[in-house]
This record gives sequence, C-alpha cells and structure tokens, in this order.
Amino acid sequence: MTNSPTILVFDSGLGGLTVLREVVATRPDAHYVYVADDAFFPYGHHSEDEIIARVVPLMGELIGTHDPDLVVIACNTASTLVLSHLRTAYSLPFVGTVPAIKPACAQSKSRRVSVLGTKGTVKREYTKALIRDFAQGCEVTLVGSPELASLAERALGGHPISDDDILAELTPCFVGDAADAGARTDTVVLACTHYPLLLDRLTRLAPWPVDWIDPAPAIARRVSDLLGPAIGGIMQSGAEMIFTSNRVHDLSATLTPFFGGRALA
Ligand code: DGL
Repeated sequence: MTNSPTILVFDSGLGGLTVLREVVATRPDAHYVYVADDAFFPYGHHSEDEIIARVVPLMGELIGTHDPDLVVIACNTASTLVLSHLRTAYSLPFVGTVPAIKPACAQSKSRRVSVLGTKGTVKREYTKALIRDFAQGCEVTLVGSPELASLAERALGGHPISDDDILAELTPCFVGDAADAGARTDTVVLACTHYPLLLDRLTRLAPWPVDWIDPAPAIARRVSDLLGPAIGGIMQSGAEMIFTSNRVHDLSATLTPFFGGRALA
C-alpha cells in the first residue's frame, strides 16, 4: 500500500467508537470513515434475516462511495451473522468483532465466565460454536441484554440513565457464591461494542470485582497486521462521521473523554 489506507468502521450506532479509538491509536497513519447505521438501531432487536438483508447491500453502497482498503465490522450482533456473507460478496478484507470467549476462558481462575451481549449475539450459532471450541472446561453463562446498548447511546447523548436500569441488565452476569472468590464469576466478556462506553459504571455497580474483557485492542492489532507496516502520512485522530438516519449529532463534548481528551472530527 503506497498511500494512507482508508479504513471504514461500521456499527449500528456509537458503540463501534470503542473499537475506532483503539484502531486510530494503533494506526494514526490511516484515514477513517465511521458509519453508524442508526436508522436501523438497535440491531439486537432485529431478526437474523433482517440484519443480513440490511447490512450486505448497505455495505456495497458504502464500499462504492468510500472505496475503503479494509472494513471493520465493529458490532458483535452483525459480525456473528454477516461476516461470511460480506466476505463472499466483496473482495476487500473484513475484520469482525466477535465475543472474546477464548481469552476470557483462558484467564479465568474460578472457571466461571459470563458473556454479556445483545439478545441477538448470545443466541447466534457462531457464539455457541466459540463456547464449544474455546470454553476449556469453564462454565460459560450467556446473558442477552435487551437494553444496555440503548442505555449506552442515551448516556453518550448526555441523557441521565439510572443505576437501577444498568443493574437490571448486569446482575445475571454474576453467578456463584458471592462470598467465595474461587466459586463465583471472575471474568465478564463485553460482547457488544457499546458496553465499554459504560465501563466506569459497570465497574462501580458490579456486585464484586471481575475482569472485563474488551476485544478492541486485539481488533486493532489484527487491522494493523493486515495493513502491513505504516508508511507515515496522516497521523491524525479524526474520522469522517456518517449516520444513516441523517440526524445531526452534537457529540464532541460527550465523546471527548473516550478519545484521550480529543474530540473526533
Ligand atoms: N454495538 C453492537 C454490538 O456490538 C450492538 C448494538 C445493537 O445495535 O443492538 O453488538
């Protein structure tokens, strides 16, 4: 690659920004286009057929308009379903975001791991196969959260969200004997890219301390490996922001803390 590469980062909403920030930090030499399919948000409430019928042609339009060198599907709900369809339909590299079950089970000491994702992600065959292949004897609890992604969007939009609303989604992740660190959940996979946006509150509200597994750094490394060595160039932290709803978002103030004090362009 001789020019700065263009990377298109795609999510149903703003959750993919948690992946974008890691990829930008790893590859500041790239040009970024961030697409939030907010007209169809939340993906977790749509059927598998609806998501495939939505994402595959939309990606074709986005590739036609932006001509990216690589696409990151920064959404577990979509990746666990459409990655194979996208790779069949389009010839450029796609990097997906799927539940980090393998590293979570490898590091759990109590052998109790929970996977917190959308209702769609936790019922996917893809997710069940990850558990079959990589649970390594751990007891894996799948927790399908109906509202947490929407709560994260609301929080980013500057709206107050209550601790009780977050706790209702979080509590089923905490399994076992609360009084015995060796016999209770010690690792929670954040299997939706929206959830790291709420990490401070998840940590504060958790009934006991756990390790939260966010796959974004691993995704950034994978992107960088596929791009090959940086050739210098852009060194910027901005991204062109596209919302499929065409709604105007004023995000700079709420997003700044997530990007090391710099707002996205
Ligand atoms: N950010 C998305 C994910 O990683 C999903 C949110 C949604 O649209 O339901 O699964």
